[in-house]
Amino acid sequence: MYGVESCVHPDYRGHGVGSRLMDARFAVLRQLNLRGMIAGSAIIDYYRYADRVPVEDYVRGVEAGIYFDTNLTKQLHKGFRVHTLIPNYVSDPETCGWGVLIVWKNPDYRPARRARWPVAPVDRTLKRERPPAFR
Ligand SMILES: CC(C)(COP(=O)(O)OP(=O)(O)OC[C@H]1O[C@@H](n2cnc3c(N)ncnc32)[C@H](O)[C@@H]1OP(=O)(O)O)[C@@H](O)C(=O)NCCC(=O)NCCS
Repeated sequence: MYGVESCVHPDYRGHGVGSRLMDARFAVLRQLNLRGMIAGSAIIDYYRYADRVPVEDYVRGVEAGIYFDTNLTKQLHKGFRVHTLIPNYVSDPETCGWGVLIVWKNPDYRPARRARWPVAPVDRTLKRERPPAFR
């Protein structure tokens, strides 16, 4: 599953709304037995450090709990892991253009339970018609 652009109104952030949205996505993943979710995280507090901290160090610092990022810190808390940096992700002064590809692996994923290809239901009431006689 690919996830992007979830947003909670600033007045209501930090009250568990975003967490419930993420949990709802995880529930769908489990229900569909998907491997996991990849998402883009806009690191919206990077602008506070961008003049002195390289983006790689900032992201490592968020992972280590040194820096708080309104998006990435919360997503990591929910079980996402950093995969790689995305340059030119969004054009805004807060992220300085940087995003992070984050991954959540479904711990309940079972490869055997999923059909390799979509299988159409078989209508057993259908009768095979005789082909028309060749003229
Ligand atoms: C990302 C966003 C959706 C999160 O929504 P939110 O309602 O503020 O999030 P919550 O309050 O539910 O917190 C989410 C989780 O982070 C945890 N958390 C909150 N503050 C934390 C902190 N300082 N350190 C560690 N974890 C923290 C919460 O405990 C919660 O986890 P839990 O349910 O296991 O306890 C919201 O910040 C937002 O809208 N950001 C701006 C829009 C945006 O850029 N979205 C992402 C696009 S990539």
